[in-house]
Amino acid sequence: MSLKDQILTDKLPNHVAIIMDGNGRWAKQRGMLRVLGHESGAKSVRDIVEASAEIGIKNLTLYAFSTENWKRPKLEVQTLMKLLVKSLKKEIKTLQENNIRLLAIGCLHDLPKKAHQELSEVIDKTKNNTHMTLTLALSYGSREEIVKVIKELTDKVKNNIISVESIDESIINKHLYTHDLPDVDLLIRTSGEQRISNFLLWQIAYAELYFTDILWPDFKKNDLYQALINYQNRERRFGKTSEQLS
Ligand code: IPE
Ligand code: IPE
Ligand code: MG
Repeated sequence: MSLKDQILTDKLPNHVAIIMDGNGRWAKQRGMLRVLGHESGAKSVRDIVEASAEIGIKNLTLYAFSTENWKRPKLEVQTLMKLLVKSLKKEIKTLQENNIRLLAIGCLHDLPKKAHQELSEVIDKTKNNTHMTLTLALSYGSREEIVKVIKELTDKVKNNIISVESIDESIINKHLYTHDLPDVDLLIRTSGEQRISNFLLWQIAYAELYFTDILWPDFKKNDLYQALINYQNRERRFGKTSEQLS
């Protein structure tokens, strides 16, 4: 049986999030410039988006650029932004053909104007697609997101729009960038690093974590299937006992 056939379609994670890491090391291993690693990583994005849509995953969120990534060398940042524009132009067709809606989370106004425009355009063109939601985390930092929520909520309290007593988890969810998305069920990080790097801290409260040594440009459909099979063999207890679940 192929890996794909081993996936139980009725036990799929509703939301898969991926920290796409290892582009730089992939390039370095080949004596290439880091930017070529990012170009190669873009091909994995297409592969994984297609595979996710094929299997029937409803929500896929990809960490493409963190608030901390702005500290990288200027040329690398510029190249990543150009690559974003190029990929959006190229992949709009794939999104439409596969009925995929694009969303973006993060400090989007910090993106270069061209990237922001292109992104808004693709988001608008795909807004009625229903098969899968693909969310790109761009200039995204979870702490920045939480600070934003606190500012918005304190402002609403100050202006008597809401009361302190009414603040609960659901109100916080509604103010996060991810307000349209369910909690993350499966978080994958490639490249062997075992850390979260400021990604979706609130949203991964009960996510299953999956770390693989594979570098992002080498992460392909079968590697995603492997992660999904691994996920399906876990018992998610959400605080309960195993006996309570069965
Ligand atoms: C992930 O690959 C892509 C981004 C963070 C934009 P890296 O560029 O972090 O690759 P490594 O970690 O240096 O190998
Ligand atoms: C996390 O990767 C951000 C993205 C994948 C976009 P990094 O490579 O920036 O993370 P650290 O700095 O190694 O933790
Ligand atoms: Mg990295």
